[in-house]
Amino acid sequence: MDFPYERLLRPLLFKLDCETAHNLAAAAMTALGRVPPLCRAMEAANLVRSARPVRVLGLEFPNAVGLAAGFDKHATAWPAAAALGFGHVEVGTLTALAQPGNPKPRAFRYPAREAVINRMGFNNHGAAAAAKLLARQPSAGRRRAVLGVSIGKSKVTPLEQAAADYTASFNAVADHADYVAVNVSSPNTPGLRALQGKGPLVEILSALTDANAGRAAAGKPPRPILLKIAPDLGWGELDAVLATLLDLGVHGIIATNTTLARPAPFDAVNEDGGLSGRPLRERATEVVRYIARATGGRLPIIASGGVMTPADACAKLDAGAALVQLYTGLIYRGPFFAKRIARALANRGWPAA
Ligand SMILES: Cc1cc2nc3c(=O)[nH]c(=O)nc-3n(C[C@H](O)[C@H](O)[C@H](O)COP(=O)(O)O)c2cc1C
Repeated sequence: MDFPYERLLRPLLFKLDCETAHNLAAAAMTALGRVPPLCRAMEAANLVRSARPVRVLGLEFPNAVGLAAGFDKHATAWPAAAALGFGHVEVGTLTALAQPGNPKPRAFRYPAREAVINRMGFNNHGAAAAAKLLARQPSAGRRRAVLGVSIGKSKVTPLEQAAADYTASFNAVADHADYVAVNVSSPNTPGLRALQGKGPLVEILSALTDANAGRAAAGKPPRPILLKIAPDLGWGELDAVLATLLDLGVHGIIATNTTLARPAPFDAVNEDGGLSGRPLRERATEVVRYIARATGGRLPIIASGGVMTPADACAKLDAGAALVQLYTGLIYRGPFFAKRIARALANRGWPAA
């Protein structure tokens, strides 16, 4: 029998403000991660492996379900993620400089719509501090879940110096990451989404590709680089992004981040920030489908946005994604939601041979 989260624990957590509840959950996972034997025992019960490993980005994922960036902001909770059933975790977003994020309150739940609006603003202790923590954990190949690290621009760094800022973060974390996600799509750092434009994007991604070449020259493994995009790009803008990614040999794309759109009834909600959860689901899937068709499958896609049921995850995979991620679903469905989805996918025989 599954843990009755929605009946028992969720009502208690929902009495707390969204960020306080999140901090409690992250602290519990961090504590669990400090007891490796317990983690391993839980993993044996919860990490549902797919019919065959999902092989993508040159990596092997035990199942297709990942924890999206933003939950494990400080890279402390991820060792427990496999114990809960996640096949991969994306920590961060980390920035080169430590920063406090936006003033609180900055995250809000809308239970009737199974949604969240957040304007956290990349609160984190900085990429170097996270790298120190990651260095003490099992390295690639000895981990149960695949570890992605999301990097973003420090708020005080001018947009024109973004490439150097991303490169500093990349160099700090690349030894410890299985893949690196480049976040140019958070709506909560002023001007960040402008980095999805062709000029800045080429500059940032070329710098990171060069950094990867530098790793290879030094005998270190290059890391797959993925770009995380906003769901609010027009098709023309998205075409330009895809052309850049294919031109530069970027390894994959994460679609999508939160939306600035405010479909009813959110048009009446007066909170700035990115909307996630159920209201984002259809748009995010539409973007995945568009990318899959436009690239003919040449660009691996991690789908994110509104996965609130196992069927939602299937819809994303059917639209052309190789993997799915979720965050808001964890808030509404609880700690074993990833396991439920992985079980549904395994029952479906996914991925097919
Ligand atoms: C509170 C909160 C914080 C987030 N922080 C980040 C972040 O730091 N970096 C990032 O790339 N995405 C961040 N996201 C976006 C999620 O990773 C995800 O892409 C988005 O919420 C859509 O998925 P969902 O509907 O399953 O939540 C955040 C989302 C939420 C709700």
